[in-house]
Amino acid sequence: MDYVNIGVIGCGHMARDLAHRCIKLGRCRVSAVTDPDQETLAVAASEFMAEPVADAETLCNRPDVDAVIVGSPPGAHLENVLAAAAARRPIFCEKPLGVTVAECDRMIQACDSAGIMLFVGHVLRLFPLFAYSRTVVSEDKIGEPRAISICRTGYGTAFHRGWRAKRELVGGLLLEVNVHELDYMRVMMGEPLRVFALMDNVYGKMDFEDQCYVLIEFEAGKTGCLHASMSSPIGEYRVHLQCTRGNLVHGGFGGSLKYQPADGQVTEVLSADLTGMNPYDRELSSWIDAMTGGAKPLITPHDARMAVAMAECAYRSAAERRPVELSEVLNRRG
Ligand SMILES: NC(=O)c1ccc[n+]([C@@H]2O[C@H](COP(=O)([O-])OP(=O)(O)OC[C@H]3O[C@@H](n4cnc5c(N)ncnc54)[C@H](O)[C@@H]3O)[C@@H](O)[C@H]2O)c1
Repeated sequence: MDYVNIGVIGCGHMARDLAHRCIKLGRCRVSAVTDPDQETLAVAASEFMAEPVADAETLCNRPDVDAVIVGSPPGAHLENVLAAAAARRPIFCEKPLGVTVAECDRMIQACDSAGIMLFVGHVLRLFPLFAYSRTVVSEDKIGEPRAISICRTGYGTAFHRGWRAKRELVGGLLLEVNVHELDYMRVMMGEPLRVFALMDNVYGKMDFEDQCYVLIEFEAGKTGCLHASMSSPIGEYRVHLQCTRGNLVHGGFGGSLKYQPADGQVTEVLSADLTGMNPYDRELSSWIDAMTGGAKPLITPHDARMAVAMAECAYRSAAERRPVELSEVLNRRG
């Protein structure tokens, strides 16, 4: 398969952007689209000059669909990924893979049994400052990571209506938004062992938390702290990484990254000066390379499952007001 015919399931903002990027990369066309919203379906069909199809199962079984992009709300990823796996079509699924570990396990098992690739869009780790922080650590500029704290706060009215206001479809703030940060924390710190979380619903606009603190113990006693909020009119994005010989701070999606060894000077790198492929193009290229040429994908289903597991531990911790071991959610069946 050199040229990929893509079917798009859930033709909202994200999936359409991803599909346009696939076309621009010059290796794909969009042959079929499906969406339960008829207006969205008609717009997508005309935008891509693709066939509008009634449902995911019909789309996945079309001979002109080689692979699919799943961009439905998180609570619907399971049904759509299972439909693609049953038809043996490789999948790019937006994050979070599922809203529980049990859902992730069903999807991973279905894809493994079908022998098809499942790629999940944990794109945040590919954004320039996040990626550069990994370079600073891997080049041993400030020693080994010991503690990470991330503050991602803001106020988005998009969460006050539609599917984003409903836990059933979103999973919760930690899944819809901060599964990105959980994935990045694991990339920097290694495997998580236990989680303690406190949550609140300050504004009550959604039927889930709009404010949470999550404390994570990683392997070898490393620690992580995430402050996530959707009830902060003054928004902020900040990463602080404490290492054995120095530290690093960065501003996330923009601004700069600074690092300083305890016995050396501050080095500052501007996000705007970090050139390279757009992070979304990079994840899609990795998916296409893995699908067409067998290259190793940048993000694995295990990565996606672990990020969901960290969130699930946090939800159980907040509900039961106790630290929750990762093993409690990873080893559960059903
Ligand atoms: N990686 C990122 O940077 C990023 C950014 C935004 C959203 N996302 C993810 O993308 C996904 C979609 O978000 P969005 O912003 O595009 O939302 P959206 O509301 O714009 O699009 C969702 C679409 O899914 C359709 N849909 C609803 N139920 C469906 C079902 N059962 N099957 C198929 N389609 C269904 C809706 O009609 C809608 O057109 C979510 O998983 C979200 O977390 C990722």
